[in-house]
Amino acid sequence: MDSRGPHLGTREGHLTFDDIDLAALAGRLQTPFFVFSGGRIAENVATLRDAFQSRHPNTEVFFASKACSALWVLEQVKKAGINVEVNSGGELWKALRAGFTGRQIVFNGVAKTRAEIEQAVTAGIRAIVVDSLCELERVNEVSVALGREADVALRIDVRVQTETHPGMRTAHGGKFGVDLIDVAELFDQACRLDGLWVRGLHLHIGSQITSVEPYARAVEKALDLVEQVEAACGRPLEFLDIGGGYPVPYVDTADAYDATDYFCAITTPHDYAEAICALVNDRRPDLALFIEPGRYVVSDAAVVVAHVEAEKTKRLLDASDHPVGEEHWLLLDTGYNTIIEHTLAEWHFRAIVANRADEPADASFRLGGPLCDSGDVYVGDLGTPYRRLSARTGVGDVIVFRDVGAYSLDTMTQYNGRPRAGAYAVEDGRLVIIRRPETYEDLVSHDVWPAEPV
Ligand SMILES: Cc1ncc(COP(=O)(O)O)c(C=O)c1O
Repeated sequence: MDSRGPHLGTREGHLTFDDIDLAALAGRLQTPFFVFSGGRIAENVATLRDAFQSRHPNTEVFFASKACSALWVLEQVKKAGINVEVNSGGELWKALRAGFTGRQIVFNGVAKTRAEIEQAVTAGIRAIVVDSLCELERVNEVSVALGREADVALRIDVRVQTETHPGMRTAHGGKFGVDLIDVAELFDQACRLDGLWVRGLHLHIGSQITSVEPYARAVEKALDLVEQVEAACGRPLEFLDIGGGYPVPYVDTADAYDATDYFCAITTPHDYAEAICALVNDRRPDLALFIEPGRYVVSDAAVVVAHVEAEKTKRLLDASDHPVGEEHWLLLDTGYNTIIEHTLAEWHFRAIVANRADEPADASFRLGGPLCDSGDVYVGDLGTPYRRLSARTGVGDVIVFRDVGAYSLDTMTQYNGRPRAGAYAVEDGRLVIIRRPETYEDLVSHDVWPAEPV
């Protein structure tokens, strides 16, 4: 493994990913494109399984498919021996299409439609995670109408604060889960309804949670609630689902570690498993533990490869328009149409010049995407607007963004008439295509033109 990170290396001055020369690849494929590593997905799954199952053997891992639901990715996680978590009828459909059985699927979401609930009950999934009292009624109605009992888990807002990105906090107010104040009513109701069977409790405290402590607090609270729901229903629960959130580092933590910076992650799945499993084993060793990792499984298993298409120098101006400095810009052929989080969450994805991988990073650049939106600018390194790259970087060079496997492929857009990027993967040493790049025809394939009457 190169010091640059898992599966990245250098050969003759070029960046490699799973031994594939990315600069050479950019010379023969249309950029931007993704490259995934099957080997890295397998390693990440193995790390998680080992961390949790070595301490609590009855742990089941459900890959959060919202992180990346390409069929090839679902196939990799299935081959690695884990289950899948879905968040819509579409993700459920994809999971079944990829070969998962209903018993390998849990279904989260705050606004499931009747049709989605029917789909889930018909597929006999492991658990519909009920997010509100109102949804409880709906699941019951649907399952009674279908004449088939639904297995459910109840999602609770356990009121645990986390230090992560504000948009990724999910268990201290906000739209997810049933308020703690309402759990007694929820439990009473859930136990009385004929159409469903409460199999477990669910919580998810957020994404990119870089410390163990909030999980410990959340699990303590959930174990108290398990007792409460069991008393209400008069029968034991089968599982506690503690959601996802396990972090990956997005900066070189050796020189930049800052415990309050959620891009720094030095904790490992073993750290989380140690604390969580100790609590479960102490109070309820009989309970199965479900975890729903997304980011950890796929983030560092993919890169985006792009070209520099233009460069310019612009003066920095003071309030009276006097030049007070200058900035060197590199403008790329990819922006938030491909990696939405770089703008939506001002997320930091490390950039490497693939054809200058051995050159020192001795100059500062601003990186911009191609979109007609002044927000389409990549955040800089360490509190600056700038990226440090080789001073010789310019038009025609190949820029690689690391750790983009989660929450990118599924969130691409065609904004500004840009076909969505293709995706390739390294599987058993071979390069394969897993998603074809879109064409201009794809930009209009859903337009109805001339318009038709409805
Ligand atoms: C209910 C639920 N489970 C699992 C996940 C996966 O989280 P992560 O990708 O951070 O592991 C999410 C995403 O936030 C989620 O909402």
